[in-house]
Amino acid sequence: PTTRYYNFELKVKKLSPDGFERPVWTFNGQYPGPLIHCNKGDRLVINVTNNLGEPTAIHWHGIYQRGTNWYDGTAGQTQCPIPNGVSFTYNYTLEQSGTYWYHSHFVTQYVDGLVGPLIIQDPDDPYYHSYQEDYLITLSDWYHSSSASLFLQRVTPHYRGFDPYPDAALISGRGQYNCSSSAAGSHCNPNVTPAIYNVQKGKKYRFRIISTSAYAHFVFSIDNHPLKVIEVEGIPVKDVSDSIVKVLPINVGQRYSVILNANQPITNYYIRANILESCLDLKDYSINSNSSINYTSIGVLHYLGAGRNKPTSSPYIFPLNYPISCSGLNESVIRPYEDRPAPTNVTDRFLLNITIIHNDEDDIDILGINNASFVSTFGNPTIQRIMRRENFADFEKTQNVYDYDTPHGCVEIILLNPLNAFHPFHLHGHSFWLVASGTGIDPENLTTFNLVNPVIRDTVIMPGKSHMVIRYLADNPGVWAFHCHIEWHRELGLVAQLIERPTEFSNQSLPDFVRELCMQYDSSKKQKR
Ligand code: C2O
Repeated sequence: PTTRYYNFELKVKKLSPDGFERPVWTFNGQYPGPLIHCNKGDRLVINVTNNLGEPTAIHWHGIYQRGTNWYDGTAGQTQCPIPNGVSFTYNYTLEQSGTYWYHSHFVTQYVDGLVGPLIIQDPDDPYYHSYQEDYLITLSDWYHSSSASLFLQRVTPHYRGFDPYPDAALISGRGQYNCSSSAAGSHCNPNVTPAIYNVQKGKKYRFRIISTSAYAHFVFSIDNHPLKVIEVEGIPVKDVSDSIVKVLPINVGQRYSVILNANQPITNYYIRANILESCLDLKDYSINSNSSINYTSIGVLHYLGAGRNKPTSSPYIFPLNYPISCSGLNESVIRPYEDRPAPTNVTDRFLLNITIIHNDEDDIDILGINNASFVSTFGNPTIQRIMRRENFADFEKTQNVYDYDTPHGCVEIILLNPLNAFHPFHLHGHSFWLVASGTGIDPENLTTFNLVNPVIRDTVIMPGKSHMVIRYLADNPGVWAFHCHIEWHRELGLVAQLIERPTEFSNQSLPDFVRELCMQYDSSKKQKR
């Protein structure tokens, strides 16, 4: 294992990912951010210098942060925000391998561009020798207005509209906006080169697909090339016939690796990422769809030896092996490569109900869990409160705290979604066994449990009017967020805080840098946002 050093300067820069120029919040001027590419067991030392003109905090999505809860990057929960002009160093080791990403976890900032890929190689990966090249694809919805202005609109008093709708779809940071549309303005480039992936006939390729979306549910496909799923969020999965898909659904925050067999005639083929508009349009919230928007982004799979002409390939007819819903990949066909039965002796159980809450003061509908909408206390993060042994009762109500203290216990969360819209739920600090999921929201009437070989992941879709049951081991003391990964919903309060083994945790001493950052934040409070 080695220690890898990165310097990330966060700054705003004008870019045109889909042709439309706008200020983009970047890591080192790049969108998406630089690839962090490392090996299992490595230590990452990432110095973040904030020159955005507003605070920030960077989260490493899917990384356990065992023993380093304070580097989880969750503003208001595991750290104070990093003020403008200040540097903060994240420093943690990687016990996992697979496909991850990083993003801002301060207000809705990641929607403005603060996202990047993180890949951890492992020579012991069972598929390590099953492909010749390792390729990376990020999928994202993209907005032409700043997320702050979009969110502000959403929380305007008496607002009766819906969640902000994206303007474009991007494959690996590139999209095709219609520059002749009236909204395009004068700084629009109609010729953004699509992402091109070169393959050689006869070889096999691993594609890692990461959804860095804020809101949109994608379906991904490569014309004429079925894709074999081999990894779900860091966990290798079995090679079963159903794991070959023609259309891969992928929701906000999720990751998959697939193997592509370059066995087709030598030519060019389209890579396609479609935003499922019907999934945005479920009328809990979402603005009216704008038909001028192009919800497909294309890339090119180029066989070496083929010309550079445009592909003529046609898409798989949709839906082909994909149910007409917003429910994502059929998880019942996914089996972890190694048998890892779910724990059976549940020690702590929580029933969490996704709720719409009417905010009387502003006369708007917001979101929460068990009728409580989460509000971040940036200046006094939960980790500090726990380590200072503040009484839970003082902040439990608006802080959606669920605590459990059984060492190596098994936590079970029953999550109910009585709303129409889907919600991708992400758990920090853990992967979980998805032991049950299905339609209906009666906790007395759950789907049959699969404890033998259920999918293990960290981000799962809750379709409308559905339930799910997850289990995980309380093997990582700390403050872990569990939230909807639709950025608009998270910012509206659809967040729970899981406080894992607070008794032990508060016996540790609060690292000096946690307190120092909070002092710096405190003295910078005049900054915007
Ligand atoms: Cu990817 Cu709490 O986030």
